Amino acid sequence: MKGIYVIAFLALFAFACGGGDGKSKIDQIKEQSKMEPTDPYESWENNHGVGPIKAFTLPAEIDQDLALKGQEVYEAKCTACHKAEKRFIGPAPKGILERRTPAWVMNMILNPEEMVQKDPMAKKLLIEYNGSPMANQNLTQEEARAVLEYFRTL
Ligand code: HEC
Repeated sequence: MKGIYVIAFLALFAFACGGGDGKSKIDQIKEQSKMEPTDPYESWENNHGVGPIKAFTLPAEIDQDLALKGQEVYEAKCTACHKAEKRFIGPAPKGILERRTPAWVMNMILNPEEMVQKDPMAKKLLIEYNGSPMANQNLTQEEARAVLEYFRTL
């Protein structure tokens, strides 16, 4: 009798820890995003992403000093995977504010792990880039804001 309990326990254990149904990570992500019944953000203008940054509006004028600081950070920490005008390991940041809100961009920089799990646009991006997630470069909010300003100059 005891044996049955042991087997049941082991089966449960294997079930809970497995997740190993032979599916690749990318297939799992694809399935998850299919399970999303409707896209909660009908347009990118309403999507500010998930993370520490709440929706905000950029001043009309570009702050060139801030952009220069951003460029330094970008060249040190981002060019391994991003090229300004061309798709590389990640997408090209040129023109990004024509398809993403400022808060979304900063959240993607500051909180990429959660973004690719919870944000519908970041999820799609992850699929498009073959499931290789954007690595968190541990920027401060000030640095991320500076990089955003630099992106405006591209
Ligand atoms: C290890 C490679 C890698 C590094 C380093 C990296 N990224 Fe990325 N980035 C990616 C990939 C890949 C994506 C596509 C999304 C995904 O797969 O997670 C991405 C996506 C993005 C996006 C969203 C682009 C869009 O079109 O929506 C932004 C913004 C971004 N990265 C900014 C940065 C910044 C700023 C840095 C430096 C602080 C940086 N990334 C460093 C790989 C990288």
